[in-house]
Amino acid sequence: MRRLLLLLPFLLMSCTSSEPPVEAGIQSRSFGTLPDGRDVTIYKVTSPTGMVMEVTNYGGIITRLTAPDRDGKFDDIVLGYDNLEGYLEETPYFGAIIGRYGNRIARGQFTLDGETYTLAQNNGENHLHGGIQGFDKVLWNAEPFSMGNEYGIVFTYESPDGEEGYPGTLSARVTYLLTADNRVIFSYQATTDKATPVNLTQHSYFNLAGPSSDSILDHELMLAADHFTPIDAGLIPTGEIRAVTGTPFDFTTATPIGERINADDEQIAFGLGYDHNWVVSDMTSSMRLAARVHEPTSGRVMEVLTEEPGIQFYAGNFLDGTITGKGGNVYEYRSGFCLETQHFPDSPNQSTFPSTILRPGETYQTRTIYAFTTDAD
Ligand code: GLA
Repeated sequence: MRRLLLLLPFLLMSCTSSEPPVEAGIQSRSFGTLPDGRDVTIYKVTSPTGMVMEVTNYGGIITRLTAPDRDGKFDDIVLGYDNLEGYLEETPYFGAIIGRYGNRIARGQFTLDGETYTLAQNNGENHLHGGIQGFDKVLWNAEPFSMGNEYGIVFTYESPDGEEGYPGTLSARVTYLLTADNRVIFSYQATTDKATPVNLTQHSYFNLAGPSSDSILDHELMLAADHFTPIDAGLIPTGEIRAVTGTPFDFTTATPIGERINADDEQIAFGLGYDHNWVVSDMTSSMRLAARVHEPTSGRVMEVLTEEPGIQFYAGNFLDGTITGKGGNVYEYRSGFCLETQHFPDSPNQSTFPSTILRPGETYQTRTIYAFTTDAD
């Protein structure tokens, strides 16, 4: 009898699940070499539920992320390439860490403490996503770690004084943790020896239907944001913080992305669709829900929680079928979306926006969570 009792948990486990038990853990393998000969590693992180995140120390790029659909079937839900070569060419920032400054700085210039700094202009006359060789294109130092049965990677990178025009040596540390409840937690930290703007984010593109060339226009999006920051034709914020009420930017109740994306609206025209910063609820720095996306065919749900004041919702308007990604999948127009948590674009030139300036002695610290569930949960 006693023996039966001891066995009971195992018997119950094997009765309740037909899936083989998943072994959580972390494995690494080579992802090739950079043109300068340095080795690149890819890490495969498996959660106790069977989610898999593959991430490389080149750009901290998430190359693969699987999530279960409502029937428990796992699919890869991020866009990317099969091999390192794809990422070495000019990519639209698939899966990467973005820094020092996520999003745009007008004309690649800002004035700080009386001094004017000139940054790389890599997006027309503007500076975008940290410049020509931003944090998405550098080799990070990577340390795998575990916390019980949860696994992750700590990435560190020291950005030299003057890199891409930014002042000060910036020590950046970004942690990815894949949890036992199907969340990816991103923790960002940085310190500097001179005042400098910092605005780190993650640029994964999602298609929650799984590997697919289909557009994301049927995905239903909720943004916990009553306001957004309107832009000019160069996608630079005008400084206004505008209510979403009565505009195609009102996602306070879940709405298919495609429903108003081609609306006759000046802001839609400037963004070529949605490519804007929303102001997350009350701009506090507490962790709260910023976005929820539901994909109706698979039932997958993705929630974004963040401590950041803003979120860039980008609907893949620049994808145009010229990129062939993983498994030969062609990335057609609007076949992936990004939800980039951030401080507002061009903040170093906008005195009314929350400051992005980090000073010596301070620690930049912020967290964002991507949480995956389904509509059957
Ligand atoms: C961000 C920008 C977009 C675009 C993409 C990359 O999301 O807001 O305008 O540059 O990155 O293609």
